[in-house]
Amino acid sequence: MPVSHLKSLDTLVSLCKSRGFIFQSSEIYGGLSAVYDYGPLGVELKRNIQSEWWKAMTQAHDNIVGVDAAIFMHPKVWHASGHVEGFNDPMIDDKQSKKRYRADMLIEQYILKIREKGDQEKADTLQQLLDSAGTRKGLCEDLHEIIMDEKIIAPDSGAFDWTEVRQFNLMFKTHYGAVTKEDDEAIYLRPETAQGIFVNYKNVLDTARVQVPFGIAQIGKAFRNEVVARQFVFRMREFEQMEMQYFVEPGTDDGEYEKWLEARLEWHKSMGVRPENLRVSPHPEDKLAHYARAAADIQYHYPIGWQEVEGIHNRTDFDLSRHQEFSGKKMEYFDQKNQKRYIPYVIETSVGLDRTTLMILSDAYREEEVEGESRTVLKLHPKLAPVKAGVFPLIKKPELKEVAAKLDRDLRKEFTTQYDEAGSIGKRYRRQDEAGTPFCITVDFDGLEDQTVTVRHRDTMKQDRIALDQVASVLRDGIHI
Ligand code: GAP
Repeated sequence: MPVSHLKSLDTLVSLCKSRGFIFQSSEIYGGLSAVYDYGPLGVELKRNIQSEWWKAMTQAHDNIVGVDAAIFMHPKVWHASGHVEGFNDPMIDDKQSKKRYRADMLIEQYILKIREKGDQEKADTLQQLLDSAGTRKGLCEDLHEIIMDEKIIAPDSGAFDWTEVRQFNLMFKTHYGAVTKEDDEAIYLRPETAQGIFVNYKNVLDTARVQVPFGIAQIGKAFRNEVVARQFVFRMREFEQMEMQYFVEPGTDDGEYEKWLEARLEWHKSMGVRPENLRVSPHPEDKLAHYARAAADIQYHYPIGWQEVEGIHNRTDFDLSRHQEFSGKKMEYFDQKNQKRYIPYVIETSVGLDRTTLMILSDAYREEEVEGESRTVLKLHPKLAPVKAGVFPLIKKPELKEVAAKLDRDLRKEFTTQYDEAGSIGKRYRRQDEAGTPFCITVDFDGLEDQTVTVRHRDTMKQDRIALDQVASVLRDGIHI
């Protein structure tokens, strides 16, 4: 059974804003929907997650290397990848409110309501109709027919005044250079980082002394003109992906797919996420993306329910074959040992950095009663915590401030710390609890005598007295658990 202290996503949204983790983009102008900025604590948390992923991929594997490809790519890339033709969502517009909805999601929500009212039979029949949409007249026509037959109204205006259902491409098109180009030469903001890896496969093979099986990892921005985008950093129009393509010999792909699925699930647990809040959800064969032979989501139980945080895909030789066809460049690998040539298959692990950040924050969030008072605390894994230690003088006396400030300066050479002398010690602890800081170090008068400080542990609230010159090593041990 999943566990959480969060009653709704809104609770986390307001903590993120009040503590400086995540802000709405361009907030002073009313915001830009589905785009977010990371604040001082958020950027540290995000970077720590990023760094853990990078280490787990590249440092921990001698056959995985990194790249950092540009966001702009040659227009042909998106034809070869299938995104120009196939990266679409079926959309319908409410003529009254001018709002646009994803037609399949509109029907799903309608089915959910019928289910909640207890009419399971009707809900099942509609679900079957929805699942088989596209097999009768065409996807758009079939979805439109269900909406019309069921008289599904617009959730916002309550109107029943729909346009036809149309396919809507999720890629952002942009102007490039001074000359306006024909449509098939349009430049897109990349909707996934993966293609930057595929187009560099040959470069890496020729320069990095790697042999199949080997992997290429990349972290970078991706852009999708999502239509349903009201779920904080879960679904954004500008987001960050951490992807790794593992190139394998055809025939070994099933085993490698299973291996990576298991490895990635373990990585999420190693970030401190509770196992009962994670699950694997394989995609049914008839719902696979255009490039996949097998696929599974690693899902997390977010405050909005079970949702995908990461996708593991067996992309076969689809991408490399298509790039060979569209570029005219050979993508074959020559296996010297066995004297054979083939286009490698690709096992892809693709995780959203923003969704991972949301998962980490959701999982860490706790409300606890402490000595008759309630506290909000983020029980983040210490290696991910944005601030590793709060450093305080017990009270604002010059002799205490001097020692605390020096300790803070010394620790900053290795750790992110925060010096704080404002308010009662209890208030300062609560501030650090909400930021997820695992240790608070206080300098008091006894400590001036015997060169000691107290270290207070965030989760247990236990306090230890330790020697001043041992603080760094205590932090080191506590972070790398
Ligand atoms: N290259 C494969 C690929 O892009 P995907 O399932 O479409 O696969 C991979 O995306 C991951 O990227 C998702 O599991 C999710 O974590 C993240 N992601 C996708 N769309 C997103 C969005 N609009 N906002 C935030 N994260 C998103």
